[in-house]
Amino acid sequence: MKIGVIGCGYLGAVHAACMTKLGHDVVGYDVDEAKIESLSAGKAPFYEPGLDELLAESLATGRLSFTLDPAELADATAYFVCVGTPQKRNENAADMTFVDAAVTTLIPQLSDGDVVIGKSTVPVGTAERLLAQIEEAVPGATLCWNPEFLREGFAVEDTLTPDRLVFGLPVGDGAEPSERVLREVYTSVLDLGTPLVVTDLGTAQLVKVAANSFLATKISFINAMAEFCEATGSDVVAIADAIGFDERIGRKFLNAGLGFGGGCLPKDIRAFMARAGELGVDQTLTFLREVDSINMRRRTRMVDLAREECGGSIAGRRIAVLGASFKPNSDDVRDSPALNVAEQMRLQGADVTVTDPIAVENARGRFPDLRFVSSVEEAIAGVDLVLLLTEWKEYVELDPDALKPLVGQARVLDGRNALDPARWRAAGWTYRALGRSRA
Ligand code: UGA
Repeated sequence: MKIGVIGCGYLGAVHAACMTKLGHDVVGYDVDEAKIESLSAGKAPFYEPGLDELLAESLATGRLSFTLDPAELADATAYFVCVGTPQKRNENAADMTFVDAAVTTLIPQLSDGDVVIGKSTVPVGTAERLLAQIEEAVPGATLCWNPEFLREGFAVEDTLTPDRLVFGLPVGDGAEPSERVLREVYTSVLDLGTPLVVTDLGTAQLVKVAANSFLATKISFINAMAEFCEATGSDVVAIADAIGFDERIGRKFLNAGLGFGGGCLPKDIRAFMARAGELGVDQTLTFLREVDSINMRRRTRMVDLAREECGGSIAGRRIAVLGASFKPNSDDVRDSPALNVAEQMRLQGADVTVTDPIAVENARGRFPDLRFVSSVEEAIAGVDLVLLLTEWKEYVELDPDALKPLVGQARVLDGRNALDPARWRAAGWTYRALGRSRA
C-alpha cells in the first residue's frame, strides 16, 4: 500500500517509520524544513527510544521518504493525518489550525478511491466536518478515523504491537473502501491477534479522549488519596499496591506524586470539557475539572513541602531539581510538572538548579531563567534540598550514601514516590514524599 503521512511530529514520524516496517511505501510530509531534513537523514528531531534505528532501517529499504512538497503525496491511497491539536491560548478548547491546514493541503492530491485516515486527537464532530469537505472536493475519496494510543517513550512498540486497533467508519459509500484500506494497512498487526473495534466515526474520535480522560482520572484519584494520606499520616504507596492487586482496579497508572503533564493528558481533558460545553452536556464532564485541579494542586503542594523542609521560606535557599521532562524516557518538556515546580520555586526566590539526562536543551528554551546543568553531581553540590521530580531510572538508582557528602543538607523530596525511603533514611537523609508519612 502506498501511504502518505501528514505531520511528522511524535505521532507522524513514528507512524511513517512503523508503516514502512509493516511493508508499505511511505511518504512523510511536513511544513517544517528542519524536521524533514533531520528525518531524511535518519535522525528523529526528538528523543524516542528505537526510532533512529527504525528510521535508518526504513530509509535503507528505499520505501520511506520525507518531503516538504505535498505533490509527492499524490500517488498514495491511504493518507494518515498525524498533526498536533494543542490547547488554544487562554482557552480549554483544542486548536484545529493544523488539522484544517492538513486537509486543505491534502485535497488537491486526492483522487477516486483514496482514503484519508484521521489519527490526531480531535473534538468529536471534527471527522464528520472534514469528511463533508473531502467528499465535496473529491466525491470518490472518503475519510475514516483510526485513533492513536501510543505513549511517548514506547511509541515504536505501541505502534507495531498496539493493545488494540479502532476503526471508525463513515456511513454510506465510504464505509467499504475505508475498512478495506485500514485492514490492508494493518494486515500484519491484525494477524498477531490484535483486538479490533470497528465503529462509527463519532465513537472512534470519542474513544481516544475517553481513554486519556480515564488515565488522567486514575492518576488524580490516587493523588487525591495522597492528599488524604497527608492529613492522616497514612501511606499512599501501600494503598496503591493494595488496591492495585484487585484485577478490576489494576496497579498501572496508580503512581501517586506530582501528577500528569505532557502534550496529551492535560490538554485532552480540557478540550473534552470544552466540547461537552459546546454540545450542552457540560455536566457530564464536570468531574474532569476536579481531575485537573487535583493534578495542578500537586505542583503547589510540592513547593509547599519544599518550603516546610527549608524552615518556612525557600528564598535564598539552594535547591536541586532532578528531572525536567514530563516523564522519564522522553525529552518532551511540554507542561512538565517538574519544570513548573522548579519555576515556581525560582519565582519565590530560591536558587534553583535543574538537571535531566536529555531534556536540558528543550527545558532551557522554555524556561531561560532557570539554571541548568548536565550532571546530578553539579546540580546537588552544596544544596539545602534535593527534589526528585521526574523518575528517570538513573535517578531512582542513585546511591544516597555516595551523594550525601556532596550536598549541604541531606534532605530529599521525592515527587514521584520512586525512591526507597528506608534506604535514603538509613543513609542519613531526611526523606519526604507526597502522600507518605514523615517517619
Ligand atoms: C498518553 C497516553 O498514555 C497514551 O495512550 C496516548 O496515546 C497519548 O497520551 C496521546 O494522547 O498521544 P503520554 O502523554 O506519552 O501518553 O504519557 P503517559 O505515559 O500517559 O504519562 C502522562 C503523565 O502522567 C506523565 O507526566 C506521567 O508522569 C504521569 N503519570 C503516569 C503519573 O503521574 N502517574 C502514573 O501512575 C502514570
